[in-house]
Amino acid sequence: MRTQVAIVGAGPAGVLLSHLLAADGIESVVLETRSEEYVASRIRAGILEQSTVDLLTDIGLGDRLAREGDQHHGIYLQWPGERHHLDFVDLVGRSVWVYGQTEVQKDLVAAAHARSQAFVYEISDTALHDLETDRPSVTYTDANGASQRLEADVVVGCDGSFGPSRGAVPERVRRTWGRTYPYSWLGILADVAPSTDELIYAWHPDGFALHSMRSSSVSRFYLQVPNDTDVATWSDDRIWDGLATRLGHGQDGWELATGTITDRSVLPMRSFVQQPMRHGRLFLAGDAAHLVPPTGAKGLNLAVADVALLAPALTALLKGDAALADAYSDAALRRVWRCTHFSWWMTTMLHSNDDPFDRELQLSQLRWVASSRAGAAGLAENYAGLPIGF
Ligand code: FAD
Ligand code: DHB
Repeated sequence: MRTQVAIVGAGPAGVLLSHLLAADGIESVVLETRSEEYVASRIRAGILEQSTVDLLTDIGLGDRLAREGDQHHGIYLQWPGERHHLDFVDLVGRSVWVYGQTEVQKDLVAAAHARSQAFVYEISDTALHDLETDRPSVTYTDANGASQRLEADVVVGCDGSFGPSRGAVPERVRRTWGRTYPYSWLGILADVAPSTDELIYAWHPDGFALHSMRSSSVSRFYLQVPNDTDVATWSDDRIWDGLATRLGHGQDGWELATGTITDRSVLPMRSFVQQPMRHGRLFLAGDAAHLVPPTGAKGLNLAVADVALLAPALTALLKGDAALADAYSDAALRRVWRCTHFSWWMTTMLHSNDDPFDRELQLSQLRWVASSRAGAAGLAENYAGLPIGF
């Protein structure tokens, strides 16, 4: 098989890239180890920043988002005895939307099928070849067990943190940075109306808690837990008691409503950056190149921002102009490092540990962010997201 762009990974980065390229008349094939249904049902991110919503709307994928997504003007920051609203629209003139990654993925895949995008699902043994030539290829075993080779002008690694693309950049060329945090998140989805109009990020001596949502009848919650926590040690009662304590049930008359838990999992927290994001005819986008801890709600938005830069760069490259492709890695990494810092900053401000000095610093930082317009605007500008191309 031959195509112009071989895209490894059918997550949001890969499918969105295929869509942007198709709009410019560039052909691609998307390769994926999992099934279409599996990718679409993975419960992950929930917050879209302004530039992600603008991009999806501009390319004609904003209809259901406009109907079913929920625009939020800000968030609540809280610690015991205090809850403060930060109004992003007032502070920086930008907002965010609650619209799950599952829904973004469904919209992207529906649009891809409508224009007959080529996908190959349920492949194995993915390997990248000849990336330093202008005839790179990807080999794999298809769902029937047959060996296949996809030849392309360009290969794009959108295969997340476990895929082979990042490791295909030779060690002599690549540089990586990383941090593993000493805590994880226990995430749950519950059939219960949200007990809040906007997200609550709560610092508590027992550990961080986040009240998010997916719709008027489905809520999403996260609890800070130690690394290697076995989800089976958290009964429904323990989860609801932990959330009630950390989110301040009873504080100023606020109550946490509970419901049936429909999904639960433990998510490790890592920061990771690999650069450069391009080597020869291989380009990396999304989690394949970088990971952020989820506290800043940046993972999905960063993947979208990478692809928004990459699509025009590849289109120009395939038409003979390499300037944008040559600039891609540096341009993307500028935003990646901004979001890496913001995600680290939110994470270290909000997750408690046993160190009394850290605790006082965290509370001081929270009081400053919540009470100073300059402090609040800094959080708002980063959370609502900088323009693409920042
Ligand atoms: P992915 O969505 O990971 O897509 C990569 C695709 O590549 C996958 O479909 C994978 O199956 C495929 N693939 C892997 N290996 C191969 C191979 N060898 N060959 C072919 N295909 C391959 N972000 C937030 O902002 N908030 C959250 O709450 C949040 N929760 C998360 C929970 C989890 C468990 C994870 C893993 C991530 C979470 N994220 C969250 C981050 C966010 O979901 C990601 O940043 C986003 O999915 C990145 O999109 P992507 O397309 O780059 O990668
Ligand atoms: C959600 C996840 C996040 O990481 C975050 O910061 C806010 C919301 C969510 O899944 O709804």
